[in-house]
Amino acid sequence: MLRTHTCGELRPDHIGQTVTLCGWVQRTRDKGSIAWIDLRDRYGLTQIALEEGVEADSLREQLRHLGREFVLSVTGVVQERYSKNDKMPTGAIEIRPTSLEILNPAKLPPFLIEDDTDGGDDLRLKYRYLDLRRTPVRNNLMLRHKLAQAVRRYLDGQEFIEVETPVLIKSTPEGARDFVVPSRMNPGEFYALPQSPQTFKQLLMVSGFDRYFQIVKCFRDEDLRADRQPEFTQIDCEMSFVTQEDILNMFEGLVRYLFKEIKDLDFPEVPRMTYAEAMHRFGNDKPDVRFAMEFVELNDLAKGHGFPVFDNAPWVAGINAITSAAYTRKQIDELMEWVKRPQIGATGLVYARVEADGVVKSSVDKFYPQEELQKWKTAFNANPGDLLLLLAGDENKTRKALSELRLEMGRRLGLCDKNSFAPLWVVDFPLLEFGEEENRYFAMHHPFTSPKPEDLALLDSPETIGQVRANAYDLVINGVEIGGGSIRIHDRAVQARMFSLLGFTDEEAQAQFGFLLDAFEYGAPPHGGLALGFDRLCSLFGGSDSIRDFIAFPKNNSGRDVMIDSPSPISDAQLKELSIATTVGGK
Ligand code: AMO
Repeated sequence: MLRTHTCGELRPDHIGQTVTLCGWVQRTRDKGSIAWIDLRDRYGLTQIALEEGVEADSLREQLRHLGREFVLSVTGVVQERYSKNDKMPTGAIEIRPTSLEILNPAKLPPFLIEDDTDGGDDLRLKYRYLDLRRTPVRNNLMLRHKLAQAVRRYLDGQEFIEVETPVLIKSTPEGARDFVVPSRMNPGEFYALPQSPQTFKQLLMVSGFDRYFQIVKCFRDEDLRADRQPEFTQIDCEMSFVTQEDILNMFEGLVRYLFKEIKDLDFPEVPRMTYAEAMHRFGNDKPDVRFAMEFVELNDLAKGHGFPVFDNAPWVAGINAITSAAYTRKQIDELMEWVKRPQIGATGLVYARVEADGVVKSSVDKFYPQEELQKWKTAFNANPGDLLLLLAGDENKTRKALSELRLEMGRRLGLCDKNSFAPLWVVDFPLLEFGEEENRYFAMHHPFTSPKPEDLALLDSPETIGQVRANAYDLVINGVEIGGGSIRIHDRAVQARMFSLLGFTDEEAQAQFGFLLDAFEYGAPPHGGLALGFDRLCSLFGGSDSIRDFIAFPKNNSGRDVMIDSPSPISDAQLKELSIATTVGGK
């Protein structure tokens, strides 16, 4: 080893020992009679002190040539510090060096490598290897490591077997867009990268593995957001001979174990809510239940008073933004602009304030006399000081917009504490959803999800098909979909019927999924499972909204890796070898 200790290790017990440390120069300071170097490695920071007349002049001379991020080896004696720093674990000691060796000089880094940096997002991604030197970023990856180890411990303890499934698989028409890889040996043919190992884990159940898991990379060519990356990691699991109840309990157990191990928190029982109830109360299939602010539907009270916006709207509803009556006209105008943004899509906003004396003042007073507004107050269970916010329009769109407004008000009112955790199992998802553009049904979870047996008869009629519920569930924590899964179809005939409902001909189903249909004829056990989004779990534990902070080398918002500059063109020779037409202008 080039060192005897790390930069985070030395304590008063080591005083008097001669040690060698290696690390990066965080900074140097020269006060004349005394100069310091802060030496950093993964484990911490240690102060090196050089006192005039004590340490050799040649060392002072060397110090003058050191820059930030030089890689150093320092040998010296551990001493007690005159002025201790109780904020640093090594703050009681310092090293009095006898020799300094520059192991490698460094160019001035493009941004400050400190907890608070001056580097913008793009710059830090370009030099991600430098950003990863910063303690907060490194800590995020340490957290990820600890979570991964704890996941393995728990699942191993429950008899789950970790099996790797292939990365070069087959493109399928369902789900998100695939990333594809051309095959040189099979001209004109392509592999696809897995969006998830779904069919493989089901085949492992057919093979009798009984309990499978994998911490696995998945790939989806979809638009990016703070909680979406084109390549991301799932904790992917599957179990045989289980009911939905068994799966919910098993993975509630996993999450409880992680909270205890990593945060020393006793995770609460996870309440269940049906999809229908979540949509009705919060307009969202992943409601943030850290706060209430539930929807109040107002069709009965709002219509028939001559206010055209409400009279002409199929759906009128609102929320009680508690304690917000003091919102100024300017703040309300700003909120109005906020709901009208295309991302939210509302056409306007009606508000009503409950004044200190209980009188309700609204933006539509001229249509609603006080006695009507008092009925609103009762419907919203509002108190003096509350502000009612109402939207109107097409039901689906308005639910979505009101859900966004609810979340925004929750944030503005400080109701989204990152240190409180409100979990929820959302259950009984619809089996199918209708795609207006494509004019056909899509599987809401995926085509392998089992309908609820009691709803099977509803599949027979086009009128009721949309009402069929699935044995599908999502784990939602603080309004984030942390995971999802389902009980699967294990019967060939039911699976074939499902493909047909999704618009596949028998031939197409056989061509795409014949391997699975065939497997179901060789003794497929009843099975089910789920996948947790590992990056999302890390960001939840780390108290951040962005999963990028918990991925060592993430892509930017345009799906680019700006450090290695990818994606990038490939040569015409490569294209030719892959039997792909050469690029425009190519030879
Ligand atoms: P699903 O598509 O719901 O289910 O994905 C499971 C979980 O993975 C996470 N996730 C993502 N995280 C980051 N970036 C993305 N682009 C991204 N997409 C999804 C979410 C999500 O809940 N095979 C099924 C699981 C099953 O049925 O067992 C599946 O993939 O946290």
